[in-house]
Amino acid sequence: MSKFVVEKARAMDGSVTVGGSKNAALPILAATILADSSSTINDVPDLADIGSMLELLRCLGATVSKDKNSVTVSCKKLLCDVTSYELVSSFRASFLLMGPLLAKCKKAKISLPGGCPIGARPVDLHLKGLAYMGAKINQGHGYVEAKCKKLTGADIYLDFPSVGATENLMMAASLADGQTVIENAAVEPEVVDLANFINSMGGNISGAGTDTIKVTGVESLKGSSHTVIPDRIEAGTFAAVAAITGSRIQINNVVTEHLKPITAKLKEIGADVKESGGSLTVDARAKIKAANIKTLPYPGFPTDMQAPYTAIMSVAEGTSIIVETIFENRFLHVPELMRMGAKIKIDGRAAVVEGVKSLTGAKVRATDLRAGAALVLAALAADGETEISGIEHIERGYSEFDTKLQSLGVNIERME
Ligand code: EPZ
Repeated sequence: MSKFVVEKARAMDGSVTVGGSKNAALPILAATILADSSSTINDVPDLADIGSMLELLRCLGATVSKDKNSVTVSCKKLLCDVTSYELVSSFRASFLLMGPLLAKCKKAKISLPGGCPIGARPVDLHLKGLAYMGAKINQGHGYVEAKCKKLTGADIYLDFPSVGATENLMMAASLADGQTVIENAAVEPEVVDLANFINSMGGNISGAGTDTIKVTGVESLKGSSHTVIPDRIEAGTFAAVAAITGSRIQINNVVTEHLKPITAKLKEIGADVKESGGSLTVDARAKIKAANIKTLPYPGFPTDMQAPYTAIMSVAEGTSIIVETIFENRFLHVPELMRMGAKIKIDGRAAVVEGVKSLTGAKVRATDLRAGAALVLAALAADGETEISGIEHIERGYSEFDTKLQSLGVNIERME
């Protein structure tokens, strides 16, 4: 099993460029099957989950070609049967094929993705919305089987502003008969990017980015080309690198609007943040102070930044309270950080972090992608060497993480 070996980092002064958003690229690649002709998606990050999605599209009968970060997908003939529990359960975003398959082929059979370390990850909101649109849904033997004559527009109120449910329902509604209104919809930038892509294919979606999205179904959609928005969580993670090492780092290829909850918190803990065009410079050469966070749906503080932020707080001045409201089990990085000397107490959905002067290097294990990133961050502030195993989790969400850190001056090696 591959691992990272990481040394404590000195204060750095450099720049790094982040890639396209994993969480925008995945639904957009799923949406390509809605079209009758081929689409080209640019700035697709080179990640394991993306590879799995492309593999699934091929299993469906699509023709997929990839040239570095540009992917062309054409779906003339679709098999409409997504099986392979192994492939589906290895990444949850596979369930985003449910809406497009139902819309395009009127049937779909997808293995239930199952839970993952951070939570049960149910799909009840996806299925409830699809049922309102006329899908007949059966669950059994670990599969969800859905079929319909033709999806019809419906008024759907989401119990929770689920990102995936909003995306699945938007895709399903784009070819349905009539209008669908999704209320209490997720407003994340990745939802907006997906809506923009569907509209570029001839779709009719309005309100994306607000909590009420209106989709008027059209007869058909044609392939289009689209460039994925930058990855706001990768950008936030490199901002966390600056904060935890007392460095100044210029982060290129960002949409500063998407980073507002993160930059606001960076300023609160004492970092200087400058925005110019598509770049963000984080100067954390002054001592970082503790500040509380509570994760919330966008535009609140993103749950995907909670683990990296917990790492920063473990060496900040003072005590902070970190509340995770989105996933029920997203503190898996805490026991590993404590092995490195962090002083953290978990009480239900809250973690109380008492900042220490410095951490100590240790052998630790990544359990999920953002927890893994948190361990790399902690290693940068730990005396001695840290060995991080389970880095396949990290590489599901961060492309070339080690090489980008090396370019900043970090001593990180990948060991097979
Ligand atoms: C997306 O997951 C992201 N993944 C996650 O990023 C991100 O953490 C999450 O949104 C929240 O922002 C992708 O976009 C591929 P949700 P998703 O549906 O869509 C509950 C990462 O690290 N829920 O908004 O699965 C659910 O249990 C990953 O890049 C239901 O109860 O998130 C959770 O508690 C991790 N029923 C909450 O809603 C449902 O039908 C948020 O889930 C759906 C969700």
